[in-house]
Amino acid sequence: MANKVEAAAEGLSPELRSQMAIALDVDDLVEAVRLARQLSPWFGVAKVGLELYSAAGPDAVGAMLDNGFDVFLDLKLHDIPTTVRKAAGVCGALGAKYLTMHAHGGADMMRAGVEGFTEGAINAGLEAPTAVAITVLTSDADAPDHIVPNRLRLAVEAGCGGIVCAGMNLKDLRELSPRTMRVVPGIRAEGADSHDQPHPVTPAAALAEGADLLVIGRAVTLADDPAAAAAALLGDLDASE
Ligand code: C5P
Repeated sequence: MANKVEAAAEGLSPELRSQMAIALDVDDLVEAVRLARQLSPWFGVAKVGLELYSAAGPDAVGAMLDNGFDVFLDLKLHDIPTTVRKAAGVCGALGAKYLTMHAHGGADMMRAGVEGFTEGAINAGLEAPTAVAITVLTSDADAPDHIVPNRLRLAVEAGCGGIVCAGMNLKDLRELSPRTMRVVPGIRAEGADSHDQPHPVTPAAALAEGADLLVIGRAVTLADDPAAAAAALLGDLDASE
């Protein structure tokens, strides 16, 4: 990359782009597709969460796949193992590459979810996907410190390939389980509005600490010009490698 202006015009390299997930936290599929398309030079992964899935259902997954994105289905599954297995199987067959489930649901539930998700994808002729565990919600300020490493161990034992963690936990989690994919939300430019994120981290710092996938939402999606906001937030990454 010759300079920041060129970087901003081109977007990210394919490798970095595959490490960026745009959180499409909107309740309208037309708006979600419009947002995703304009941000595609920067993001290779579209995160479909509860809001968009409640509004548009499986069509949201299909629309993102049709537009060339990998899909991170953030449904945070938590139910009895049989139900999670079946729901995860549907998500795998839909073509989601990543699916979240709550580690709080326990090892049997996560194992059922991993198996269902994998079977659903394989039976549909797709590659084996990655189940991602949520250890503790950022809104749960009362959770004791030991819970994150305990739930990480449980998730890894149950076969989850990834874990969602705050930037500040990256180092510990990398030491505890180096091969587990680390997914980091709360990404912000230095000094920017963190909204309700308690532990914001910059994209460069998260990558330097070992993040594998950055989940980025409001810092980009609430901007008047989301593509320009993405360029400002991510434009330096290739150059800084
Ligand atoms: O804050 P931002 O809009 O970038 O959030 C991106 C994602 O981070 C959300 O879709 C949600 O899954 C997650 N999040 C979180 N903790 C919060 C707020 C959002 O982990 N306090």
